[in-house]
Formats: sequence, structure tokens, C-alpha cells
Amino acid sequence: MSGHDDGRGAEERLVSGDAASPEEEVIEAALRPKQLDDFIGQDRVREQLSLVLHSALRRGRTPDHVLLSGGPGLGKTTLAMIIAAELGRPLRISSGPAIERAGDLAAILSTLSEGEVLFLDEIHRMARPAEEMLYMAMEDFRVDVVVGKGPGATAIPLDIAPFTLVGATTRAGMLPGPLRDRFGFVAHMDFYGPAELEVIVQRSARLLDVRIDDDAAAEVAGRSRGTPRIANRLLRRVRDFAEVRTGGEVTRDSARAALKLYEVDERGLDRLDRAVLGSLLRKFGGGPVGLSTLAVSVGEEPETVEVVAEPFLVRQGLLARTPRGRIATPAAWAHLGLTAPPTAPLAGALFDLDEPGTGTD
Ligand SMILES: Nc1ncnc2c1ncn2[C@@H]1O[C@H](COP(=O)(O)OP(=O)(O)OP(=O)(O)O)[C@@H](O)[C@H]1O
Ligand SMILES: [Mg+2]
Repeated sequence: MSGHDDGRGAEERLVSGDAASPEEEVIEAALRPKQLDDFIGQDRVREQLSLVLHSALRRGRTPDHVLLSGGPGLGKTTLAMIIAAELGRPLRISSGPAIERAGDLAAILSTLSEGEVLFLDEIHRMARPAEEMLYMAMEDFRVDVVVGKGPGATAIPLDIAPFTLVGATTRAGMLPGPLRDRFGFVAHMDFYGPAELEVIVQRSARLLDVRIDDDAAAEVAGRSRGTPRIANRLLRRVRDFAEVRTGGEVTRDSARAALKLYEVDERGLDRLDRAVLGSLLRKFGGGPVGLSTLAVSVGEEPETVEVVAEPFLVRQGLLARTPRGRIATPAAWAHLGLTAPPTAPLAGALFDLDEPGTGTD
């Protein structure tokens, strides 16, 4: 249990937004809401999408292409499936990395049936030539299939059935403008609020036949980092704990004890997050300290700290990246139950902290 054991990939962390394993994907499939009405939260996206889909249905046309953008585990795949279900159309699933050549895309597009929904996951990772083919397909439902090579090559135009493209991306900023512009509807999926996550936890508990009381559901929701996938994962862990230790029903106490065992704290920080923050506070007095120094101090690679731990700490307002290095915010001291030294560097200047260290909380 040395610090080096912590250097596991992000996908093995309980609080990672990424899908962990094929087994998890099976469970997730069972927990996916099937209709727009069962999809919890993202109210604006849901309402806008409902209008897009239902007006298209009324007009008997295929709806605009839809781009779903948002972090891992927020419900993009779920929404893509719901779109096909609401339209009553088949769903074809592929992904950016699977499309290495324009021909791969042509093979998919030319076999779509009328009105079919094509879901392209991780669309920002598609090969460039395929991307250009996709532009034309999205706009004119036509592709040019190039036959032959060199000067003798000819482009044979091919009509394809009108379809709806649903693209998903965790990196909207990496999409080329021309591709983004061809989506008639762009849905930005945000992190979920605690109340929404609580409803998601309760819904999943029903589906998994887990008895959980409201306090416990709130406890799980509050530690889920705004992400349904993490909420569902923590629910399964507290269920395991309750089954083995306390006779089945998940109560607030058993949920707390379980999450303590799994080292997920009240704000959803795990051991790595707390190690980084703790080191920043205890060893470097709150910073500023350079990324690599901070990483060495917790026995991690700089990249792990930067990619795996920091984004959530920044989002939580516990850590800030400054040109001079990483610094802790006043909230970080409070969260770890420590008192900021009166000389906490930069903190006063950057965060308008009145009289640091007077303990007025
Ligand atoms: N709004 C929601 N209501 C209920 N459950 C949800 C909601 N959004 C997501 N989930 C659940 O969270 C899990 C992850 O969702 P999903 O696979 O759709 O995320 P994603 O955005 O596609 O993630 P990735 O970026 O990794 O592909 C699923 O099991 C799904 O049931
Ligand atoms: Mg997905």
C-alpha cells in the first residue's frame, strides 16, 4: 500500500467519470433511461431536444443532426439511444476511432435505412478524409466515393438515405468548425446537481432492487461529482457494504461507513485527490508549488496529477493553477480541517481573503 499503488489508471478509480469495464457497461445498459421522460436532469437540453424531435415527427422529416457535448458519464450515449427510440427508428452505432478511412464511413452511410439514427461516439477522433465525406453526407445526403488512384481516380456520387447523425464528444473544442456548424442542434451537457443525482440514485436503486433511504441516497449523490455514472457506481458499492455488513437496507450510516472504506469523502474526493491537496497544504504551505514537485511529493507522475486529480479540485474551487505554480484556496484548508497559516502565500492577494487564519468559520 505504498504511494505507488495509487498510480493506477483513471479508469480504475471509483470516482472516475470514465466507464470502468465491460461488466460495468452491462450494468449501465440496464440502468439507462429509455425515453426522454425518464431522463433525469439536463432540463433545458431535454426540452429543446423534445421540440426538435417532435416537430420533425409532425412534419414527417428527419430531424436536424444533433451534437451531444459533455464530460464522460453525463449521459451522451443514453441520450443518443433515447433519440432513436423517440423517433421510432433504428440506431446504428460507431465511433470516431473506428472510422480510419473515408471508405469505412462510406460503408456505414451507404447501408443506412431511411430515417435511421447514426450515433458516432467520440466524433472528434474521426480521420480527416472521413470528416470531409461526412460534411457532404450531413448536408446533402450524398457522398462521393472515389474509385481508383492517382490521375485516373474518379469520384462517383452516391445518394444515401436521409438519416439523423447524433455525434457525441467530450472535447467539443477539438471539433473543426465546419463539422460543428453542420449540426442543427448542439446540446451542452452539464454536471448534475445533487437533487438530480439523488433522483438518479433512487431510480437506479429501484431497478437494482436495492433498498436505500432518502438520506443515504443524498449521501451518495453528494459524493458523485455531478456525474450519473459515478452515482451509479457508488450506489453499487454502498449496496455491497450494506448486504454484507448491515443486513441489506442502505441507510445514511451504512452509506457513510461504506464510502469511508472506499475513501470517497463528502465532496467526492478520493485518496489521490486528498493526497495532492494534503501535500500542497502540509508540505508546501498552500503553494505556489510547481506541478512536478507536487507530483513527486505524492509519488505520482505529473501527468496523473494534472489529468486525473487536478480538474476536479479546480472545479471544486480547492486548487488553482497560476503562472507561479499550484496554490490552495481557503476552501482547501477548510475541507481538510486545517488552519491556513497567516502567511499563506498569495491566498490573500488572489482570493480576497479577509484576515486569514482568524478562524471565523
Ligand atoms: N440523466 C440521466 N438519468 C439517469 N441515468 C443517467 C442519466 N445520464 C446518465 N445516466 C446513467 O449514467 C451512465 C452513464 O451514462 P452514458 O453512458 O450515457 O454516459 P456518456 O456521456 O455516454 O459517457 P462517455 O463519455 O463515457 O461515453 C448510464 O448507466 C446511464 O444510465
Ligand atoms: Mg458514451
